[in-house]
Amino acid sequence: MRRAVCPGSFDPVTNGHVDVISRAATLYDELVVAVLVNPGKAGLFTVEERMELLREAVTDLPNVTVDSFSGLLVDYCRAREIPVIVKGLRAVSDFEYELQMAQMNRELAAIETLFVPTAPQVGHLSSSLVKQIATFGGDVSRLVPKAVNDRLAEHARRSQK
Ligand code: PNS
Repeated sequence: MRRAVCPGSFDPVTNGHVDVISRAATLYDELVVAVLVNPGKAGLFTVEERMELLREAVTDLPNVTVDSFSGLLVDYCRAREIPVIVKGLRAVSDFEYELQMAQMNRELAAIETLFVPTAPQVGHLSSSLVKQIATFGGDVSRLVPKAVNDRLAEHARRSQK
């Protein structure tokens, strides 16, 4: 059984994440999408909301499950016997930090990282930009799954009151 984890903050999931997840899902028997629980950084969405939005986004992918983790990613991988981390690469600017993390994770626990280059049509997407645009009433409907778009619109309406 080939297993991999696709970790991230996913605050919220974008079409860029869905692109990487759905392509990685074709390469492994089981892919776990793992949301980082970061007590030091409050996001726009709670970890539970992020997981719920991710679950909706991957309903068509039967071998993908959604989970959360705290602490070191390698500890999560070891505990679940997951030997591979999958990360999306949007641009060369992503590479430097991602390479450093991949080398560190390999040194810490012999866990390999597989980089998936994002499709060019989603290479400019980031959760932070999407949040910024949505907060100011911009249209992000083409950039995120529908459920995420609806939630962002709800947040924007509430913050305007
Ligand atoms: O979506 P993000 O914020 O780019 O995801 C980053 C993430 C969650 C993959 C990374 O911060 C991470 O692995 N955090 C867990 C803590 C950890 O293992 N740190 C050491 C990395 S070498």
